[in-house]
Amino acid sequence: MEALLFIGIPGAGKSTFFRQNFFDTHLRINRDMLRTKPRETALIEVCFKSKISFVLDNTSPTRVVREPIIACATAAGFRVDAYYFEPDYAASCERNALRSGRAQVPVVAIGSILKTLEAPSFEEGFSRIFSVLNHTGGGFEIREWTREI
Ligand SMILES: Nc1ncnc2c1ncn2[C@@H]1O[C@H](COP(=O)(O)OP(=O)(O)O)[C@@H](O)[C@H]1O
Ligand SMILES: [Mg+2]
Repeated sequence: MEALLFIGIPGAGKSTFFRQNFFDTHLRINRDMLRTKPRETALIEVCFKSKISFVLDNTSPTRVVREPIIACATAAGFRVDAYYFEPDYAASCERNALRSGRAQVPVVAIGSILKTLEAPSFEEGFSRIFSVLNHTGGGFEIREWTREI
């Protein structure tokens, strides 16, 4: 079983990347859709109990936010991988502006999450870490990190 943590500012392309790569294989857990933390936690617990691979399609910008989910997933026997969407503030603002209705976030939210963003590290307990570059229109480029010695 796999728990995949997406890490990236709003507008980075996380949900688009999910649709392209994991739609058929992993349950998508997304705070924008579930609205509250307790509902998200309840769904994650079902995944752990029922051994369902999932993608946590949230911004998950800090180590503090990521730590409990990595600990619970590892304890449940899941492999935990990180997908780090390389921050590009201008491109994210442009992509955000193209979204309509509730999908669009205030521009200040993009900036404030960018300020807190911490790149993932193997010390956090990830088995694998991938960088994702979003070449809007030209698709996504994925690079796996090599473990530092
Ligand atoms: N590679 C891409 N090519 C074209 N449009 C994209 C690409 N990535 C994202 N978008 C568009 O940009 C907007 C933001 O992407 P989204 O996946 O919702 O970002 P996030 O989930 O990280 O907030 C959406 O309207 C999406 O359709
Ligand atoms: Mg999204």
